[in-house]
Amino acid sequence: SIDQRVDSVLKLMTLDEKIGQLNQYTGDRDATGPITNNPNKLIEIRDGKLGSMLNVRGAKETREVQEVAMQSRLRIPLIFGLDVIHGYRVTFPIPLAEAASWDLPAMELAARVAARETAASGIHWTFAPMVDIARDPRWGRVMEGAGEDTYLGSQIAIARVKGFQGKGLGDLDAIMACAKHFAAYGAAIAGRDYNAVDMSEHTLWEFYLPPFKAAVDAGAATFMNAFNTLNGIPATANSYLQRDILKGKWGFKGFVVSDWGSIGEMVPHGFAKDKSQAAEQAIKGGSDMDMESRSYLPNLAKLVAEKKVPVALIDDAVKRVLRKKFELGLFEDPYRFSNVERQEKELNSAENKKAALSMAEKSMVLLKNEGQILPLSKNLKKIAVIGPLAKSEEDMHGFWSVLWPNDKLISLYQGLQDKVGKGTELVYAKGCGISDTSKTGFAEAIAAAKSADVVIIAAGEAFDMTGEAKSKTNIHLPGVQEDLIKEIQATGKPVVVLMMAGRPLIFNWTADHVPSILYTWWLGSEAGHAMANVLFGDYNPAGKLPMTFPRDEGQIPVYYNYYSTGRPSMNDRDTRYRSAYLDMPNSPKFAFGHGLSYTTFAYSNLKLSSKQINATGQIKVDLTLKNTGKYDGEEVVQLYLQDKVASVVRPVKELKDFQKVMLKAGETKTISFTINKEKLAFFNQQLKWGTEPGDFKLMIGTASDQIKLEDTFVLN
Ligand code: IFM
Repeated sequence: SIDQRVDSVLKLMTLDEKIGQLNQYTGDRDATGPITNNPNKLIEIRDGKLGSMLNVRGAKETREVQEVAMQSRLRIPLIFGLDVIHGYRVTFPIPLAEAASWDLPAMELAARVAARETAASGIHWTFAPMVDIARDPRWGRVMEGAGEDTYLGSQIAIARVKGFQGKGLGDLDAIMACAKHFAAYGAAIAGRDYNAVDMSEHTLWEFYLPPFKAAVDAGAATFMNAFNTLNGIPATANSYLQRDILKGKWGFKGFVVSDWGSIGEMVPHGFAKDKSQAAEQAIKGGSDMDMESRSYLPNLAKLVAEKKVPVALIDDAVKRVLRKKFELGLFEDPYRFSNVERQEKELNSAENKKAALSMAEKSMVLLKNEGQILPLSKNLKKIAVIGPLAKSEEDMHGFWSVLWPNDKLISLYQGLQDKVGKGTELVYAKGCGISDTSKTGFAEAIAAAKSADVVIIAAGEAFDMTGEAKSKTNIHLPGVQEDLIKEIQATGKPVVVLMMAGRPLIFNWTADHVPSILYTWWLGSEAGHAMANVLFGDYNPAGKLPMTFPRDEGQIPVYYNYYSTGRPSMNDRDTRYRSAYLDMPNSPKFAFGHGLSYTTFAYSNLKLSSKQINATGQIKVDLTLKNTGKYDGEEVVQLYLQDKVASVVRPVKELKDFQKVMLKAGETKTISFTINKEKLAFFNQQLKWGTEPGDFKLMIGTASDQIKLEDTFVLN
């Protein structure tokens, strides 16, 4: 068995060789460029002082480095890891955008394609999916996850883990997934990256841990811990999180890698006096591999000699790493993924690009479409294409893309050009730059708008304004872009705004005055083609927001599954000694789950098979959904529940299920859900997961603030 083989290797290892397996360095340029540039790193590999490398990319390059590992005494292969966050050679939409599709098979496919390309480049491991729940759009890393909701986030975590790991480790198309950042990294105070997290146990278990648990159950091979402290203890040294919960209660058999330097960062945190103490705390806390902090390699042997760290802890960590190397098949053939021919065939294939196009189409959210300006007619004579992002290729990558020099991404303008026939003229004017404070380009843009039948404005953020270390206090549309939109709208021409960003932005004037708004996020390689398909109705948008869009930063954190108070604000307006703001409603600008289609849907006929349920039973919920518009289209039917009275107060509503369904124009379908204990349970005062008898409210909606059907039932 693999365990026996792991033990037989472990027996041969010196303590130094064991510690080497727990050490990870970045390759960066010195390995992906001329690898002789860093003799020390290579000597360390040859001396068995390294278990893994990140940022070595390519079949040839990984083979070269692996050859050095094969010169080490025990010839233990290296694992190569990389941040393949939304595609490898072909870039997919940023993860938050994909989450807006609510399309689990599509997200699984996106991860599958990324895995195939990655594996074909000699890489065994991606540092994804990020499954951090994120309720604060000031935090730049919201772009990397699945948004604010625990249920949706858990389903997406499963889809992505399955996608990356495919048929299972050992298959040549499978790479190891890494659920990160364990835990609660998304709740950094005030949305400032790397900041402390202070959170009740209840909130942790109820909202932040379930996507991680889902990733474990889906078989995630690895976990990454987090930069933050959680209630005063760095996640990296948090044995409650990593030993008691992850490896204990959840039975996780994989290994945990630290985040980059996070072991050493316990010194500036004020938790360890030096890196030696940090190494002791981290290994005791359950961190198996040290990513780039260089704390384990120089300190663990001494800590063992001083009897501060039992060797059994090191053995356990090494076994976890070796097991994955066996499962990947690297002991049989350390070069099995490093195949230049396969790489050439797999990367950037037409099939992979097709998947990226489809994912990009599914990721867009139609926020508004008054007067049905969209879809555009294909017979327009002249379209003005305006705005700082209209011709941008670079920004279409989004943050965390595995950048390829000279790569050609499809801009909006290019996509439109490829779409419209000779009969339609496109006139372009930039208007302003993304963060410009000058309006000097406005006149040209206004003239272009006046000359056209329809105006398309591409506004938003640059790709590097949302991502790691990209927190912001001001998430309004940057620069003078909203002024530009105002002046274009004043021309009286029909205006469509495309918002391109990695996070929810605030653009209240636009939201209130511009008739058609499409939130496109950052869509990756095929961005422009996907946008053109949606604009002209060749694809009917069906995305729904996976995160709440605030009216103002002052509302943050604002999310749909909040707790009621003893003084709820009536109708969102009542401020008299109510839980409310004097200067603005509590409700957001756009709610979680919001998103329109070119067609319309009617909900009716809600039927529950029973109005009573016991803890082992179930209720079947049926409803009728009709496509009442002119276009075929997809709808995401959302099921929310509220436990009306419980020993721990429950949110006003919680997503518990959803279905994405396609209906032809005029078509009617019966949609069915099943309610069982899983959907009714919660963590009680003792943090025990279970149900309590009582009344429940069932809500079926097209968005969290657009409930179409309601009923109640009783749990006995
Ligand atoms: O995977 C990332 C992590 O999410 C943030 N710090 C660096 C790691 C490796 O690049």
